[in-house]
Amino acid sequence: MSSENPSNQCPVITLDGLSGSGKSTLARKLAGELGWAYLDSGAWYRALTWAVLRASVDPTDSQAVLQVLSRLAISSQSDGQVLIDDLVLGKQLRTPMIDAAVSDVADPAEIRLALNQRMRGLRLNPKVTGIVADGRDAGAVIFPDASLKVYVDVSLEVRAQRRFEQMQAAGIEQTADAIHSALSDRDLRDCRRGEAAPQIHAGDRVLQNSDIPVEVAIRRLLEWAQALIQS
Ligand code: DC
Repeated sequence: MSSENPSNQCPVITLDGLSGSGKSTLARKLAGELGWAYLDSGAWYRALTWAVLRASVDPTDSQAVLQVLSRLAISSQSDGQVLIDDLVLGKQLRTPMIDAAVSDVADPAEIRLALNQRMRGLRLNPKVTGIVADGRDAGAVIFPDASLKVYVDVSLEVRAQRRFEQMQAAGIEQTADAIHSALSDRDLRDCRRGEAAPQIHAGDRVLQNSDIPVEVAIRRLLEWAQALIQS
């Protein structure tokens, strides 16, 4: 893998895809199998949104959001959890308020540039031997020199059905139609972000994740990763 890593930093594997594609579950498990750090880029956007709302800043005011970011000590643990000023953020990042505001925070290019720079800092940690990063643009923009770039592909119908079952299991009342339409709106918004839009790029490996169990998906990812490690 080192031949693909001219910057002499640790190797990176990226998993990108749309909301609900299962990429976070896969990335976390793959990182665990490899003994690498997991970087959940969506959680970084959510953490910044959490700090913006806490500071009563308008999430659509990109200059004010940048100011919030410039004052934040933001980092992530090897399990992917994001910290702000030593506070580990977990459930706080998955609230309807964060869901509603995170796209406003994530849209402006100047915010993406600044946050990406912070995320890349994880690579400078000498304890980190490798990173599995997931997101929308982890391979195309955050880590363009990643050794392996995977696009996790799942149809809107399957993603909506999975999300519906998760909501039901969690006892959260939401109709299947509402979930389908929310996901479809989110896809549209994500896909308007130019080079940061989730899409298959030349050189990506595509993992069709609509109808295979997690264990099978992980085996496939490990095969791809091992082939690189051994080469
Ligand atoms: O994957 P998620 O739902 O936790 O992502 C939260 C939000 O952050 C979502 O609106 C898309 C955005 N995001 C992004 O723009 N770029 C990334 N690399 C990851 C997430």
